Amino acid sequence: MPDNSRFTVTADAPGKIILFGEHAVVYGRPAIAVPVIQVRASATIESRADDAVVIDAPDIARMSTLRDAPADDPLATIIRLTCARLGVPPEKFTVRIRSTIPVASGLGSGAAVSVAVARALGKYFASVTLAPHASVGMPNADISDLAYEVEKLHHGTPSGIDNTVIAFEQPVYFVRGKPIESFRVAKPFTLAIADTGIAAPTKIAVGDVRSQWEADRELFEKLFDNVGTLAHNARVLIEQGAIEGLGGLMTANQILLATMGVSSLEIQRLVDAALGAGALGAKLSGGGRGGNMIALVTEVTQDAVVRALLKAGAKRVIVTMVGGRQ
Ligand code: PMV
Repeated sequence: MPDNSRFTVTADAPGKIILFGEHAVVYGRPAIAVPVIQVRASATIESRADDAVVIDAPDIARMSTLRDAPADDPLATIIRLTCARLGVPPEKFTVRIRSTIPVASGLGSGAAVSVAVARALGKYFASVTLAPHASVGMPNADISDLAYEVEKLHHGTPSGIDNTVIAFEQPVYFVRGKPIESFRVAKPFTLAIADTGIAAPTKIAVGDVRSQWEADRELFEKLFDNVGTLAHNARVLIEQGAIEGLGGLMTANQILLATMGVSSLEIQRLVDAALGAGALGAKLSGGGRGGNMIALVTEVTQDAVVRALLKAGAKRVIVTMVGGRQ
């Protein structure tokens, strides 16, 4: 075995947005998600001379050992699960995590951190033990599965869409429990992603939708069906490059999400501002209640929409291209 003293490996993972289908995806309807490469989480594994595993996450001012972490801690969980999957003892390394993905804002920060840590550990142990996957580390499907286990800690019934789009880093048409389906983006399109600045844990929104679904299954099944139809039709338009039609579907999805009770005044203010400035469509993205919203823009409307979003209170706006050079 090679000398692994002072050995360091880094891996990273992008953020993501859900274009169509959040919440309904938990109930088996299709959803579309795309990676957002402008924000990323990274994990560095550094060998240690002592036996400890140290978790160092300076962005959240956290420094602890794996042994002292609570059993349900997400960082400790991804480390333990990944080591178990790799068949190696969790010992003798530091995990340093950095992230530019805002937390609890619908950009997949939790899943991105899990994917980055699992990917980095896979590469690290592949290198130090010269395992069969030495050059590439673990397959994306395994990394996605591990991150999914941690998603369950964030909220009890995750659909799996976040870990899938982030681990594979490509647009996905996602149906819970089905194999990953990617699709062709025939013509690139541009989104403005605006942050309400309100941290809103997915768990609460998902739990509230569940209570309402339990109280009125007939209504909520219909809402979910309508969302699923929008996601399906959106995929057809994206594959045809008929981007002009997408905006209307996004705004229709926003109305359905508001009916489910997961929008908010702040989100709606940003949606209205974007539409007023010429966006083709706009909706919340992710769990809702706060977090981020997305607006479909063109070269002509992009600047006006970004300005309008900032004026309407957005804490920051990221412009990202889907399907082209980002
Ligand atoms: O808030 P986010 O980005 O984690 O997105 C959650 C998406 C939901 O559909 C609301 C939940 C899920 O598990 O799919």
